[in-house]
Amino acid sequence: MSQLVRFGVSIAEDLLDKFDAVIRARNYPTRSKAIEDFVRQTIVESKISKDTAEVVGSIDIVYDHHKRELLNKLTDIQHDFHDIILSSQHIHLDRHNCFEIIIVRGKKNIIEKLANLIKSAKGVKHSAMRIVTTQGGD
Ligand code: NI
Repeated sequence: MSQLVRFGVSIAEDLLDKFDAVIRARNYPTRSKAIEDFVRQTIVESKISKDTAEVVGSIDIVYDHHKRELLNKLTDIQHDFHDIILSSQHIHLDRHNCFEIIIVRGKKNIIEKLANLIKSAKGVKHSAMRIVTTQGGD
């Protein structure tokens, strides 16, 4: 861990009051810890905003189990992107719905391309992409 440094910050009083309320609600032990986390988060967001950033993440899908052609299409799409898919898990939610989590690793723009193909497939009820990076604010 690198050495800690102190620095002074000027901020509007009402803004600081609101900030303190937020960090209390999130159970931060100190302002310093909260600010450090927010700085780290900002740096990470900046890094993964680049199209070619190397990221890991997941694509979550809920879809209609009865649409057999959709099952084939989702499988075909995943085969086309086999090089960035690490694994997937299929859960039968109920008699009609499937939930699938696809774990991915690769360039952000390629992962987004895969997520968009899945999202736009007919019969997909809901999908969400989540991206994280191993390159923190360090
Ligand atoms: Ni299923």
